[in-house]
Amino acid sequence: MRVLLFTGKGGVGKTTTAAATAVLAARRGLKTLVLSTDPAHSLADALGLELGPEPSLVADGLLAMQVDGQRAFERSWRDVQDYLRSVLERAGVDALQADELTVLPGAEEVLALLELRRQAASGLYDVVVVDCAPTGETLRLLALPEALRWYVEKVFPGQRRVMKAVRPLLARVAAVPEDGVFEAVARLHGELTEVRDLLTAPTTSVRLVLTPEAVVVAEARRTLTSLALYGYRVDGLVANRVLPSSDDPWVAGWVEAQATQLEGIRRDAAPLPVLVAPYAAAEPVGPDKLLDFATRLYGVTDPLDVVSTEELMSVSRDADGFLLSLSLPLARLSEVDLARSGDDLVVTVAGHRRLLALPSALRRCDVAGARLVDGRLVVRFEPDPLLWRQP
Ligand SMILES: Nc1ncnc2c1ncn2[C@@H]1O[C@H](COP(=O)(O)OP(=O)(O)O)[C@@H](O)[C@H]1O
Ligand SMILES: [Mg+2]
Repeated sequence: MRVLLFTGKGGVGKTTTAAATAVLAARRGLKTLVLSTDPAHSLADALGLELGPEPSLVADGLLAMQVDGQRAFERSWRDVQDYLRSVLERAGVDALQADELTVLPGAEEVLALLELRRQAASGLYDVVVVDCAPTGETLRLLALPEALRWYVEKVFPGQRRVMKAVRPLLARVAAVPEDGVFEAVARLHGELTEVRDLLTAPTTSVRLVLTPEAVVVAEARRTLTSLALYGYRVDGLVANRVLPSSDDPWVAGWVEAQATQLEGIRRDAAPLPVLVAPYAAAEPVGPDKLLDFATRLYGVTDPLDVVSTEELMSVSRDADGFLLSLSLPLARLSEVDLARSGDDLVVTVAGHRRLLALPSALRRCDVAGARLVDGRLVVRFEPDPLLWRQP
């Protein structure tokens, strides 16, 4: 099963491109599901149909759904939230504030991805197309399973042990988390790990939608870097709303500006393809117009093709130790920060942070330096003599 995710800045045409790709895939005989995790319910608008929180048949071989993020949130986070709220209330925070403090910003959207996992597991589809919410927060939150792993493995087991000892004492001053809370966190962690596995599988890829404008392109460049940092495979870009040439001087000015932006992003994104969709005279709404949109966009190429084969992370050995190489296109060394935290390498790039669990050989090494070479961050690890002597 193939999974295609469409992301990009707000309003650039993510929903349109995702819906169009799904219509084309279905038309070519693939069992297709298109789902939107964006709380702005525009997938239904793009298809020109009503959609519900369960898949419904919208064309031959094509099902569509609008994920209900709130419902996903209630299902997965409620137990934990109840606990946190009760602790805050006992600590004197008023109920309304406590409520707000326990809502993780953006969590709804991440939890909406749990629905992707459920649908993928149904085995009913050849391809699942996901219309994601705008870039920023989702990206950061997609690293959540890794962050949660840290809690589950490092904080919770210990805390659980400590709890036994201090439970009677704690009961007097705060609410003791019931085992149900630990279970809820562990279950959520398990589910999110499965989502992440699905999103980073070789059969999954991300397509970045943009319009050829300076501000949008600048964000797209940063997104290319952060997607790679989090281990997501981008296999193409879509430049949408490209204006046709014109004799009108005002339009001609825009055409020229767009051409400059397109050239820049083509150069930066190479070898990834940049597909182009023209600015249509009317909004491409409904399956027929979307099919038209997709046919022009993909031409003769297969919309499901994976073009990128680059390894996102690899480890190699040389005489002095090990080299860990991480795909990080367009990053600048001045924005990169590295730190060791136990068995993890914490990589921060322009405010995006990822905890990389190090392979065991590297855990016994020190970081001896880092360089950026051809869009890859290469971190040198040298054996720590003290650690290597241990069994
Ligand atoms: N190539 C295009 N030509 C004309 N209108 C477009 C084109 N692409 C998208 N639109 C319209 O632009 C608006 C925003 O597109 P949408 O796909 O909803 O963006 P996003 O999901 O990124 O917010 C919609 O009204 C859509 O119909
Ligand atoms: Mg949208």
